[in-house]
Amino acid sequence: MTLSTEPTPVLGELLDLTGRVALVTGAGQGVGAATAHMLAAQGAAVAVNDFFPERAEQVAAAIGGRALGVQADVCDPAGVAAMVDTIECELGPVDILVNNAGNAGATHSAADRTPAFWESQPSDWAPWIDINFTGVMIATRAVLAGMVHRGHGRIVTVISDAGRIGEADLIVYSGAKAGAAGFTRAIAKAAGPHGVTANCVALGGVRTPAIAHLLANEEFVKRAVRAYPVGRLGEPTDPAALITFLASDAAAWITAQTYPVNGGFSVAL
Ligand SMILES: NC(=O)c1ccc[n+]([C@@H]2O[C@H](COP(=O)([O-])OP(=O)(O)OC[C@H]3O[C@@H](n4cnc5c(N)ncnc54)[C@H](O)[C@@H]3O)[C@@H](O)[C@H]2O)c1
Repeated sequence: MTLSTEPTPVLGELLDLTGRVALVTGAGQGVGAATAHMLAAQGAAVAVNDFFPERAEQVAAAIGGRALGVQADVCDPAGVAAMVDTIECELGPVDILVNNAGNAGATHSAADRTPAFWESQPSDWAPWIDINFTGVMIATRAVLAGMVHRGHGRIVTVISDAGRIGEADLIVYSGAKAGAAGFTRAIAKAAGPHGVTANCVALGGVRTPAIAHLLANEEFVKRAVRAYPVGRLGEPTDPAALITFLASDAAAWITAQTYPVNGGFSVAL
């Protein structure tokens, strides 16, 4: 066995995404928008997807340069395939996929009351499963063949601590996010030999429009923050930084993992 005599790479160079094309789903606001901005700042051309075209366009315009707003419902396989075709024509093949769209989906709100699981109907589960699990598979499938063919790709799936440790108020969401993590691990194993890595980032509470109804309640926020050793909720740039790292060459030997970004709310061993 010979040991490498290569010079130590410079981290800043490994984080450079110049020449890469990224697709961030649900990037019209919140964590996805911050991630799109950060990937672009590292040099990537970024396709900003959202269900709502005006959100996607607004974020792409704010990024400027080689950013492109692309409307699609990530739960619709035909719409996602058409979106990927558009991205390939306008920006080039997708090197980086960030499966970010989640929560209760585009047409439901995380603020909607969810019945206790034992009182729920299977029809109550669909919005959570569609966006947090099926949508992740649909978007991944749409770009993975190209990544495998080109011998390079990065997939980062945004899950929740609910999917790692379980949330009593978010039972179906917890299951769907855990499913997305299991799927991402299996993709890592299948596509690893083809130069594709796949990882998850698991979030605690992050200040985005999705939880505006909770943030509006000062007492709730004060109580919630006590569960976070760093003494605050997350900002969208907190997960965006790790997602950008995992999308870069710096993370070439990291795959099939789930990393919490949660201010210490829960721990991973
Ligand atoms: N905010 C939090 O506290 C928190 C906590 C844990 C996990 N997460 C996860 O982080 C990710 C981002 O959360 P956020 O709070 O930034 O989200 P958000 O709800 O604020 O924004 C999500 C964006 O996704 C878009 N979207 C929804 N359904 C879509 C679909 N079917 N197709 C395309 N776009 C769609 C929405 O229009 C919206 O603009 C989600 O996966 C969420 O589950 C968030």
